[in-house]
Amino acid sequence: MKTKILEPTRENILTAAKIIAEGGLVAFPTETVYGLGADALNPEAVGKVYAAKGRPSDNPMIVHIAEAYDFDKLTAGRNATIDKLMAAFWPGPLTMIVERLPNVPDTTTGGLNTVGIRMPDSEIARELIRLSGCPIAAPSANLSGSPSPTRVQHCIDDLDGRVDCILGGPDCRVGIESTVLDVTGEQPVILRPGIVTAEQIAKVLEIDVEYDKALFERPEMRPANAGLDAGFSDDFKPKSPGMKYKHYAPKAEMKILEGSADAVKVEIERLKSENEAAGRKVGVILFEEKAFEQAAHEFFAELRELDKQGVDLILAGALSDFEGVGFAVMNRMLKSAGYNIVSLS
Ligand code: TXA
Ligand code: MG
Repeated sequence: MKTKILEPTRENILTAAKIIAEGGLVAFPTETVYGLGADALNPEAVGKVYAAKGRPSDNPMIVHIAEAYDFDKLTAGRNATIDKLMAAFWPGPLTMIVERLPNVPDTTTGGLNTVGIRMPDSEIARELIRLSGCPIAAPSANLSGSPSPTRVQHCIDDLDGRVDCILGGPDCRVGIESTVLDVTGEQPVILRPGIVTAEQIAKVLEIDVEYDKALFERPEMRPANAGLDAGFSDDFKPKSPGMKYKHYAPKAEMKILEGSADAVKVEIERLKSENEAAGRKVGVILFEEKAFEQAAHEFFAELRELDKQGVDLILAGALSDFEGVGFAVMNRMLKSAGYNIVSLS
């Protein structure tokens, strides 16, 4: 298939919108990561997204809307909690899981009776949704399993020839995917951490926000402030089906070093020399301490850059004392490395 690669001019956004309205696939920028969009209410179109990404079809998609009133076309679940969250965080990087109306197809929700909805704050994304005249189902615009795309070139690398159109735009501001929050129960539960943190949500709602236990499947994933002392069992079932798949993996082997900043630096240097002496090409990912938002912005792009350079081994320094946005970045880093973590303390 010939993929149209377009600059985000008004005319080109209209061209892309027509492709969506006619059941085609368009990769487009959002503030978090690039999305691969299709008409969310057209099961045939949504089915093509799974095929283009090589994604398992039980993994539900987030439905993107341009205006708050579009929310009520997808769910009857609106309540005071949701109103507060909308006012505080939309448009923006928060996805809410709510019960779906019957017009939302099984193909979009992976057969669940809930649907994830988000209003992106990218003007290009919202203009595309408005002009398409439909809500847009969009997972991240990468091949399934590879790092999420935060620059238009990443979409081209993964999807050129597999989708109808790639609508370009700026590098993604946030750099990691939206926070996914289940608001179907009494207490909101974070299914995927992101730049909108549990603390921020709790402050707006004036109630405690829980993390899905699947996020702590491994003890090393636990943030400093999770406030969870008990209740970890081996037989939990992830609420977010996406949690169970291999994710974000670079082609290179990846190892995370965890410990004091000095110890991490020393060990990275040692491992680098050792591996280089053995003829391996080594890449290093090391963020400044506490610069969590910057880490979020750069992490996926760095993985892709190192793969492009053809490195055999990536050595990454774990974020120290991570919480909030740091927790969200560590969630991705640990998955990328397949939990290959070395503790230096
Ligand atoms: O920032 C983002 O959210 C990006 C941009 C494009 O908006 N999209 C994105 O989509 O990250 P995707 O498909 O890569 O991740 C969606 C996540 C998956 O982990 C999926 O399982 C979860 O959201 N999800 C979607 N609908 C759900 C539902 N009804 N119940 C539970 N989890 C759901
Ligand atoms: Mg994804």
